[in-house]
Amino acid sequence: MAVRRVGVIMNGVTGRMGTNQHLIRSIVAICDQGGIALSNGDVLMPEPILVGRNEHKLRALAEAHNIERWSTDLAACLANPDDEIYFDAQATTLRVESVKAAIQAGKHIYCEKPTATTSAEALELARLATEAGVKNGVVQDKLFLPGLLKLKRVIDSGFFGRILSVRGEFGYWVFEGDWQPAQRPSWNYRKEDGGGIIIDMLCHWRYVLAHLFGEVRAISCLGAIHIPERIDEQGHAYVATADDAAYSTFELENGIIAHFNSSWCVRVRRDELLSIQVDGTHGSAVAGLRECRVQSRVSTPKAIWNPDVPNPIDFYDNWQDVPDNGSFENAFKVQWELFLKHVVCDTPFRWSLLEGAKGVQLAELGMQSWEQRRWLDVPDLSAQFLS
Ligand SMILES: NC(=O)c1ccc[n+]([C@@H]2O[C@H](COP(=O)([O-])OP(=O)(O)OC[C@H]3O[C@@H](n4cnc5c(N)ncnc54)[C@H](O)[C@@H]3O)[C@@H](O)[C@H]2O)c1
Repeated sequence: MAVRRVGVIMNGVTGRMGTNQHLIRSIVAICDQGGIALSNGDVLMPEPILVGRNEHKLRALAEAHNIERWSTDLAACLANPDDEIYFDAQATTLRVESVKAAIQAGKHIYCEKPTATTSAEALELARLATEAGVKNGVVQDKLFLPGLLKLKRVIDSGFFGRILSVRGEFGYWVFEGDWQPAQRPSWNYRKEDGGGIIIDMLCHWRYVLAHLFGEVRAISCLGAIHIPERIDEQGHAYVATADDAAYSTFELENGIIAHFNSSWCVRVRRDELLSIQVDGTHGSAVAGLRECRVQSRVSTPKAIWNPDVPNPIDFYDNWQDVPDNGSFENAFKVQWELFLKHVVCDTPFRWSLLEGAKGVQLAELGMQSWEQRRWLDVPDLSAQFLS
């Protein structure tokens, strides 16, 4: 058994996503499990180098997880031919420049979404990576959540008959930062720093819809800045310049209608922070992050509108849990393993920078739709990319 080492330059790992999801729950977890077993009996072992601006934070993070290498010099890291992969989970506005430098240095690219704040830049990254012949991927973690994997299984079984509509409800209350600290970084609420729920969440909804239901062909989106002033990490008040809620309707290529509410200004009274209801002629499902419940045509209760009497039906009855039928790993780790194998063994990996650019395109059209107060068609970005 040979150990195939893969050097990974990890930028932005002192942040929320970088530390928790990508470093601790993915790369450190893969190392702790003894690497990734390959079909020929060899083992693929990632070897991270942490990169960032703050020496103290990097050293502390590296020591806490027994990681030997860290650096504040990105250019020097990119110049090291021993590290093949560049990973980026920096705040969004910093991504394009760093990813471009990494492509130029010949590194394979894996990065967080959104890959850029405009579709032109996102497409340029996809083009540059393709021209340079480097492998590339974008985080599309929601596809690997247990609840959505189960929903995909339900779809593939033909349970729904003809799917009519999809309703997504995403969100929770993000504290304003005054009497309780906010649970998201303040840049999320400043447009000039890459913030906004449209750019954040429509990237996710694009690949969730495309993978489970069909490509989005048109969008109508209404954004809102419900909370106009918030308090930042230093305790200073700032003006919220970015949307904190988005109400978006999507028409899919096959006639399915999807509507997603995304909000950081909503209090939760549903099973999970994300809930996706699918209604079909033969059955319905409600999927969350972990669970998926179905109700078939034959177990659908007959609801009758009559507010004059107490409701005789418990609408939570008559739903069935879709069983796990296996164990689920952290969604980010699953995708990391697929990307590492893609780089080393050339196994397929469909979640490329081009796929990431399609998410940015949908978010950009969502913002235009809000500004112009109208429906917009979604041009085929793959066709543009090939032309
Ligand atoms: N896949 C998902 O579900 C998901 C969820 C949340 C965030 N994200 C994305 O991950 C990225 C990071 O988000 P986060 O919530 O971890 O943010 P964060 O603010 O916690 O972390 C941002 C990182 O960028 C670095 N950074 C910030 N400003 C910088 C600057 N001026 N110069 C250099 N480095 C700087 C920080 O040091 C930190 O390492 C964003 O692009 C965000 O859209 C993805």
